Amino acid sequence: MKILVLGGAGYIGSHTVYELIDAGEEVVIIDNLQTGYAKAVHPKAVFYKGDLRDREFLDSVLEKEKDIDAVIHFAANSLVGESMIKPLKYYDNNLCGTKTLLEALIAHGIDKIVFSSTAATYGEPERVPILESDRTDPTNTYGETKLSMEKMFKWVGKAHGLRYVSLRYFNACGAHKSGKIGEAHQPETHLIPLILQVPNGKREAISIFGTDYPTKDGTCVRDYIHVTDLAQAHILAVKYLMEGKESNIFNLGNGVGFTVKEVIETARKVTGLPIKAVEEDRRAGDPAVLIASSQKARDILGWKPEHDSLEEIIDSAWKWHKSHPNGYEE
Ligand code: UFG
Repeated sequence: MKILVLGGAGYIGSHTVYELIDAGEEVVIIDNLQTGYAKAVHPKAVFYKGDLRDREFLDSVLEKEKDIDAVIHFAANSLVGESMIKPLKYYDNNLCGTKTLLEALIAHGIDKIVFSSTAATYGEPERVPILESDRTDPTNTYGETKLSMEKMFKWVGKAHGLRYVSLRYFNACGAHKSGKIGEAHQPETHLIPLILQVPNGKREAISIFGTDYPTKDGTCVRDYIHVTDLAQAHILAVKYLMEGKESNIFNLGNGVGFTVKEVIETARKVTGLPIKAVEEDRRAGDPAVLIASSQKARDILGWKPEHDSLEEIIDSAWKWHKSHPNGYEE
């Protein structure tokens, strides 16, 4: 297969490209390198630097790369906090970008797309584990733009015969087994990389945002899922569409929740180093508990997360951060 990966230089995109190439697929990447890194681009992938809001650029790539079987779309801004301060940046990149992309795909007869969605589409969940059919009521602009993207695909799909799979990730984490690629965000806001900055000597302590949640130790519970397992789900989703199946939405998580304190304790165990933690107030907009039911992805896609122990996830992240304390920067 020949797969076009938008955002293939980003965290989850680059890991998916590595898995696709390992599986013998041909990969074409588009990335504007705004949040992605040239060093994360797999050497065997064909890379075009450009923005998906640029229709002429998209057309020029699609004219050169004629026989694309399917698209995987990761290219989006994804910081919850930033999305509340700069909502229009999120509407512009995530929604206007997807609109231009869809116009170009339709014009070039490409009709299969897998794309990144998020647990943030649910907002404060009605119950856990969360099912795909549960209420979606985002509490931030980021989640709202992702939910709107899903709806754009639904209506455009009906009109133009395009089929899609939306993958709602829970907390992506961990790094590739090769140690060549891993998580690198600027600024970093995610729990596991921030915790590991402490044993790496880049941060004095990790802040615990809120200790008065209705959970077993008062800190938030999340469903941490290894990035390589997410990558595998994208490959299964492409196969699903190639088999002619209907558009669909799947949660991707392990179905097990860990508190912030449990994650910190596991990081202490994995690194063998002390990690100072400081208790602080709640961070605005954090739901207390987010745990996925990913039974649907297991049943329909045949997905089975393989790296489901938190120790293993943190160990893979630690290998990456220890050897790349500044991410992809020298
Ligand atoms: N946390 C801390 N200290 C930190 C950073 C995070 O205590 O320094 C806590 C957060 O409050 C939260 C948990 O650790 O309870 C996980 O936080 P992350 O920022 O790592 O992840 P989120 O659960 O906030 O975000 C994830 C995805 C988003 C998605 C969101 C849905 O990364 O893309 O779930 O709510 F939008």
